[in-house]
Amino acid sequence: MEYQTASGKTIELIMVADHESTDLPGAEIVESVITSQEIGAPSIMFCTGSTPVPIYREMVNRYKNKGLSFKNVRAFMLDEYVGLPSGHPACFRTFMIDHLYGKVDFKRENIHYFDGPLEDHMGNCFRYEQALSAKGGIDLTLLGIGSNGHIAFNEPGTSPESRTRLIKLTDETRKANARFFLTPEEVPTHALSVGLANILESKAVALFAAGSKKSEIIARALAGPVTNDIPASHLQNFQGKLTVILDEAAAAGLNR
Ligand code: GLP
Repeated sequence: MEYQTASGKTIELIMVADHESTDLPGAEIVESVITSQEIGAPSIMFCTGSTPVPIYREMVNRYKNKGLSFKNVRAFMLDEYVGLPSGHPACFRTFMIDHLYGKVDFKRENIHYFDGPLEDHMGNCFRYEQALSAKGGIDLTLLGIGSNGHIAFNEPGTSPESRTRLIKLTDETRKANARFFLTPEEVPTHALSVGLANILESKAVALFAAGSKKSEIIARALAGPVTNDIPASHLQNFQGKLTVILDEAAAAGLNR
């Protein structure tokens, strides 16, 4: 269905019963970009976190059983923790390998990580920006949302002009992500992340949220004013196609 945000932008809103049911519309959006004749070899930015797990599972299913191939896809991550030993189960690189990259036919040279030594964050961000803008830029960005309104790791206070950079994580984000670590102290204090400008420059964005914990922030992001305090609210000014996929619990705060 169509939904009008507070800024007057018309977006595509897809509502499903529960988190698991985000799998089909999510995979559909990715598949339509991968198989688009017009796009050819697409560049896609993938989100991490618990939200996209059913979508990636369905993408793997389509690869195994329905002939969907990822060999022409350039893949990017939104963000990565700084300071975790390589192979740490909570690092986003490991997450993407476990849930998607390692299970389908991506070509290794098409997968872009924050690759260099992470202490060289300037060099890392510079190289990442170059890779992002090569070959016509990003065709599709998949996003989850943090309970404080962050997208990627763009925390409250982020300007829409922000680009790939080192970010100090808020206490709220560190607390929310502690579930992926053995102890809360182990959660890194910093991360590298693409900026809001990188996301807003994509040709299409799909934002996913599931569960009642996300209902308030979804309402503030889409039905409230556009403000740096809620980084996701800048999606209301996105010029390309924005699709928002919510389960009933996450959509509960939106007036329809
Ligand atoms: C993380 C990531 C975001 C993600 C968000 C929500 O910190 N940096 O890209 O969208 O938090 O995570 P979840 O889907 O687990 O709620």
